[in-house]
Amino acid sequence: MVITPLTNRCYLGLTGALHRKLGGGVIGATGSGKTETIKELGNALAMHTVVFNCSDKLKSFAVERFLKGVASSGAWAILDDIARVQVEVLSVVAQQISTIQRAQQQQAENFVFGGMEIPLVSSCAIFFTMNFGHTPCNKIPANLKKLFRPVSMVIPEYDMVAEISLYSLGFSNANALSKKIHTFFRLLFDQLASQV
Ligand SMILES: Nc1ncnc2c1ncn2[C@@H]1O[C@H](COP(=O)(O)OP(=O)(O)O)[C@@H](O)[C@H]1O
Ligand SMILES: [Mg+2]
Repeated sequence: MVITPLTNRCYLGLTGALHRKLGGGVIGATGSGKTETIKELGNALAMHTVVFNCSDKLKSFAVERFLKGVASSGAWAILDDIARVQVEVLSVVAQQISTIQRAQQQQAENFVFGGMEIPLVSSCAIFFTMNFGHTPCNKIPANLKKLFRPVSMVIPEYDMVAEISLYSLGFSNANALSKKIHTFFRLLFDQLASQV
């Protein structure tokens, strides 16, 4: 993972959210590095990060069991492409996340979640990613939105990612090569963007 000004801004947004015991929501085009950036931040802070692939078949009790594990182990959860989940389920998920965040803000050691008392490890955090274009952003219920600090990632710095990756692979003329790769990625990105 190459650290670029875009990933840095995303880190700032997410760590700001963590400081206020909120979650972070990264919104952007497919392939802009949303999931990887959150994972990389987790690695940098030595946090166990779990990516949860959301789907339209997801039920609230499945999320409840997952979040129970996250809260009691202090891990980080990334709800990947949250907009795929049905709105009714998202409303319930918002209540569940709100319960965890409230307990964190009160610095509780135990709290009641899903009808049972569970321990709370304060380092736990919940993030989501959302691909725009794929599903309308307004699908996300307001009670869920307010629990997350939004960060948007639009166009990744392909030339920088390519140049640093090439240098790390041993290419000495990475600067010239990265310009060619950049042009290729831009074309690919424009093509992908026109399809959604
Ligand atoms: N800053 C970066 N440095 C290196 N690779 C990156 C960077 N940003 C994205 N990538 C690569 O781009 C691909 C897509 O990233 P991903 O996080 O899955 O995108 P998204 O979640 O936005 O769809 C991954 O293979 C990832 O390794
Ligand atoms: Mg992703």
